[in-house]
Amino acid sequence: ITDSKTIIVSNRLPVKITEENGVYILSPSEGGLATGLGSIYKNGNNIWIGWPGLEIPLERQDEVREKLAGLNLVPVFLSNEEISLYYEGFSNEVLWPVFHYLVTYANFEQLAWDYYKVVNDKFKAEVLKHLSADDVVWIHDYQLLLLPCLIRTTQPEITIGFFQHIPFPSFEIFRLIPWREELIAGMLGADLLGFHTFDDARHFLSAASRLSSSNLLDNVLIYKNRQVVVEAFPMGIDSDKFDSLTRHEKVAKYTNSFKASLKNVKTILTIDRLDYSKGILQRLQAFELLLEQHPEYIGKLALYMVVVPSRDTVPKYKELKDQIDQFVGNINARFRTINWVPIHYFYRSFSIEFLSAIYSTADICLVTPMRDGMNLVSKEYVASRTTDDGVLILSEMAGASRELTDALIVNPNNIGDIKEAIVKAVNMPPEEQNRRMRSMRAIVSKFNIHLWVKNFMDKLNEVKTMQESLH
Ligand code: UDP
Ligand code: G6P
Repeated sequence: ITDSKTIIVSNRLPVKITEENGVYILSPSEGGLATGLGSIYKNGNNIWIGWPGLEIPLERQDEVREKLAGLNLVPVFLSNEEISLYYEGFSNEVLWPVFHYLVTYANFEQLAWDYYKVVNDKFKAEVLKHLSADDVVWIHDYQLLLLPCLIRTTQPEITIGFFQHIPFPSFEIFRLIPWREELIAGMLGADLLGFHTFDDARHFLSAASRLSSSNLLDNVLIYKNRQVVVEAFPMGIDSDKFDSLTRHEKVAKYTNSFKASLKNVKTILTIDRLDYSKGILQRLQAFELLLEQHPEYIGKLALYMVVVPSRDTVPKYKELKDQIDQFVGNINARFRTINWVPIHYFYRSFSIEFLSAIYSTADICLVTPMRDGMNLVSKEYVASRTTDDGVLILSEMAGASRELTDALIVNPNNIGDIKEAIVKAVNMPPEEQNRRMRSMRAIVSKFNIHLWVKNFMDKLNEVKTMQESLH
């Protein structure tokens, strides 16, 4: 069927709108979901439905809708109240902390849950406006857990895939959420549910079989007389893009000026959204310990730390920002010399060209989340190492650690372990760097974003065919 399309649905669109003196400006969104899918969604007549990142007053919604239509994007407009309760309140003060095992950060508020339902319904209404019978609906992430079931109720035959970009916690953690049954029922409206790792899939299966009346057969749940398949699909990146970016003129310019500024200083790079799941403070502790125990590195090694502003209206994020500022200030004040600073701290986002330049220049990339669904930064570093050198230090709590086994794998709670890994990385012989990097590059290049989309879509087709043959 020629005009069937895929409708991608996620809370955040791959471009966000900001306002400057009354003018709306579009810029790329940050975060793995947007950057990962951003390069591939534009095939055929596919569309992407989501929130543009800002409250848009009624009288300017048509203008925004038109602007986005040119990019195959369809906005869902949220009021400030909805943003505060559905996005900040429920998505990021209940689901995000609980799914990342930080239950004490969760704020279980009935009103936030009510708004979560209302906004999931709002997304449903927008999807239905664009939906034809042969379309595939592909819903993404924890902000829209109720949407699969909401769409299924109105359109029982439609093909629905769901992918969760963050971890799915073990049942003992998940059961703490007061609205756990409704969340599971919402997700089970999909035909295929995808997670980054096998463990996430297993945790979901166990929660779903305890919290719904369903039968479990391997990785298939029979729920309301329908087969729902649950599987791991580790997300990849557009590795060719990161590889070839390193040769762009603009990138080369950045690379040259970055290198010139370094002289004989080795560099450690970290890039994250400002988020407590990323282990930023623990990493700073490890770096401080390194400088204390290895004064020979003073003047010889610097940390380049890119922290991208994120969810800064949520209290826990604000707090963390202050703690980071203070910690970086202390370390720099304590260890700096007249012509050397230990930490180059950036609180902002950068263009992909700039990112490419720092990825391809940094001797070491330090990725130490306390929990992370996948972590694409680690893969982007690997894809940018066209010279096969460089060392990746990677937390075992990131989904990516299952694939990038040639990284130096660390437990992010073990400050001493991180410090040791940095020492090992600084002293790693070039041959060993090459061997490890080549093997990781082969993995990142083979299991790229295109294969990820293909695997998911092929499986979704297969599930539909199986369901039909059983009816
Ligand atoms: N990123 C970005 N702008 C920046 C810095 C980073 O768009 O200034 C991107 C980065 O390239 C990566 C994404 O943000 O693709 C972060 O994804 P990841 O999976 O590592 O973590 P997430 O933010 O999704 O938790
Ligand atoms: C993670 C989540 C995404 C989210 C992104 C940025 O990658 O999995 O769903 O879009 O962070 O966070 P934000 O709250 O700004 O959308």
